[in-house]
Amino acid sequence: MTTFPTETGAREFSFTDEDFRSLASLARSEFGLSLAESKKPLVYSRLARRLRSRQLSRFQDYMSLLKAPGEEDERLELISALTTNVTSFFREKHHFETLKQQLVPELRDQKRIRLWSAGCSSGQEPYSLAMTLMAELPDNAVRNLRILATDIDPVIVRKARTATYPQEDLQSIPPQLRERFTTKTTVQDGQFEIALEARELITFGELNLMETWPFQGPFDAILCRNVAIYFDQDTQQVLWQRFADKLRVGGYLFIGHSERVSGPALELLSTAGVTTYRRIKGPEAALAN
Ligand SMILES: C[S@@+](CC[C@H](N)C(=O)[O-])C[C@H]1O[C@@H](n2cnc3c(N)ncnc32)[C@H](O)[C@@H]1O
Repeated sequence: MTTFPTETGAREFSFTDEDFRSLASLARSEFGLSLAESKKPLVYSRLARRLRSRQLSRFQDYMSLLKAPGEEDERLELISALTTNVTSFFREKHHFETLKQQLVPELRDQKRIRLWSAGCSSGQEPYSLAMTLMAELPDNAVRNLRILATDIDPVIVRKARTATYPQEDLQSIPPQLRERFTTKTTVQDGQFEIALEARELITFGELNLMETWPFQGPFDAILCRNVAIYFDQDTQQVLWQRFADKLRVGGYLFIGHSERVSGPALELLSTAGVTTYRRIKGPEAALAN
């Protein structure tokens, strides 16, 4: 049994190798998360507060709780504890340059423009997309634009919908866009909100990427950045393939700085820049309703 001492030297919770394996297997089957043996101390420290909060003394009991009916919220607490929601406006800004320079010119006369921020966290990514496209596209094209933004974590999706951020978070927004699309809120000190015209383009939803996707596409661009990093390679390869299937021919897939597309999806995707891929051949996803 592996033990992890508390500050006083005593182990607070029992956490056997079997508990870890069983937790890792649940995290993989339900959420696609990959937990290597080396993550054991990290998992212990991240989940210790959940055991405390549920007044349990053994990981074995926590595992039983997670599998019990009616414990959906605890399973979401588990994923929150094992992943991070770190994000920022215009993160990895070269992707937004690619959108501006390569994708936008193709979209000007398009009747239907669809983008997807998959693993959108607290919303900075889809709002950055909305600001970029609104600033670059003519009004008639903006009328055809919709952005889908999804995340597994309902708490973070609720936060994203509020579109409200502290002033320091706005620093990474290019000044012209910040000026046009953000205003100081009247209700909360030091908080700024994203303009309604940008918010209205976005549909937020809760979605576990491991499950069935209740929409068809095709998308002109999908951003799934710094999400697949938690998944093992087999799970990643299935995900890349599913994204490729949802892109129109010529559509873009943007992934996180430490991620790489691998596996069968490479037959459909060609490299188009740093952590940027382009769908190269059909058949395309069926048109959405
Ligand atoms: C580090 S954030 C990335 C946010 C944003 N894409 C970015 O790059 O700034 C990772 C997000 O992935 C979400 N996530 C983790 N596993 C997921 C899954 N199986 N399905 C959907 N979202 C997931 C987390 O809830 C978290 O909000």
